[in-house]
Amino acid sequence: MKAMSVRVRHGMAWILGVLLAALVAPPTSALPPGLGDAGASIEHKFIGARKCKKCHGKELMGDQMGVWQEGPHRPAFDTLGGPESLAIAERLGLETPPSESEECLVCHVTAFGVPEDKIWKPLDQVEGVQCESCHGPGRDYRKKKIMDDLDKARAKGLWDPDAESGICLHCHNESSPTFDPHRYTLGDGSKVGFDYDQAAQRIAHPIPEHVKGHYLELRKKQRDEEEGQAGEEGQAEEEEEAEE
Ligand code: HEC
Ligand code: HEC
Ligand code: HEC
Ligand code: HEC
Repeated sequence: MKAMSVRVRHGMAWILGVLLAALVAPPTSALPPGLGDAGASIEHKFIGARKCKKCHGKELMGDQMGVWQEGPHRPAFDTLGGPESLAIAERLGLETPPSESEECLVCHVTAFGVPEDKIWKPLDQVEGVQCESCHGPGRDYRKKKIMDDLDKARAKGLWDPDAESGICLHCHNESSPTFDPHRYTLGDGSKVGFDYDQAAQRIAHPIPEHVKGHYLELRKKQRDEEEGQAGEEGQAEEEEEAEE
């Protein structure tokens, strides 16, 4: 129930925002719904998923990168070029193709509508809904000494995309032309358009339990072992990671 009301609130906030913007200002000043209320006050820069790969593409870490690449969010931009999107665009009377239309991009890419000075070059919107759509702009928290300390990471812009945050609902709401109010079935048999627990399960990418809180020390141990075998290669990688 709580989730429902949050969803409605976010949906309404966006609709109101769009209406207001249409009345008083050019459309670019509307809040980017993909980022909800945060869109108005982004302090840190977006850097794109590839910048997270160095650490979160590691097997030891749980390879969040690999899970995301196989999941529904990575191809979100590509979807806009498909036949279903073209049909939706025609139905809605869009004047530009979906992949160039604000009406679609707001939820199908990362950081749409965010001022350019808050975007760092490696971010490529072709890569769809990326880590930072849910975890916040990463330019300042991606360094390993900061990442390793949750309080510091949060202070540098890391968001917590849990059920209470409502972050998923920035996009998973009735403003989506394919929103299906019966998509998810709850335990009691009732149907809802979005259920955090089930949806989060479908995209789960946890840090393995025995690694959580110990990644850096376990990684160091792993590297020492690798170095014993590979010599200079391990050394080069260590330097690369240390630089971050
Ligand atoms: C920036 C917008 C955005 C945010 C934020 C977002 N999603 Fe999505 N999500 C999408 C889009 C767009 C698709 C469809 C992609 C496609 O089919 O090309 C999608 C698809 C999905 C799907 C597959 C369809 C379904 O409902 O089964 C799941 C599961 C999902 N998202 C879970 C989540 C969860 C959990 C969160 C929050 C932690 C979240 N999403 C946050 C945009 C977003
Ligand atoms: C408010 C956010 C939002 C907007 C705006 C939006 N989408 Fe989506 N889109 C989603 C989400 C979330 C999904 C995952 C399925 C769902 O819950 O609708 C999705 C899924 C899709 C899918 C996959 C169909 C499916 O059932 O999985 C297509 C195709 C699509 N969107 C096309 C478009 C087009 C074209 C536009 C612009 C006219 C658009 N979307 C605008 C959020 C959005
Ligand atoms: C659609 C939203 C979404 C996207 C995209 C996404 N995540 Fe997550 N991520 C989540 C959610 C939800 C959780 C679980 C949060 C919780 O349990 O409170 C999570 C958890 C995590 C965790 C912590 C796991 C743990 O065990 O504590 C890491 C690390 C992480 N994500 C990294 C990434 C990286 C790196 C990417 C991109 C490659 C990414 N995420 C993409 C939503 C997302
Ligand atoms: C230089 C390495 C490095 C990079 C780059 C990096 N991270 Fe991390 N990240 C870590 C480490 C180390 C941890 C803590 C792991 C542990 O539990 O021991 C962590 C933890 C996390 C967590 C879990 C926080 C929690 O709830 O405890 C999330 C979410 C996360 N990273 C997201 C990201 C995202 C998104 C990016 C890219 C914008 C990124 N990270 C880039 C090293 C990195």
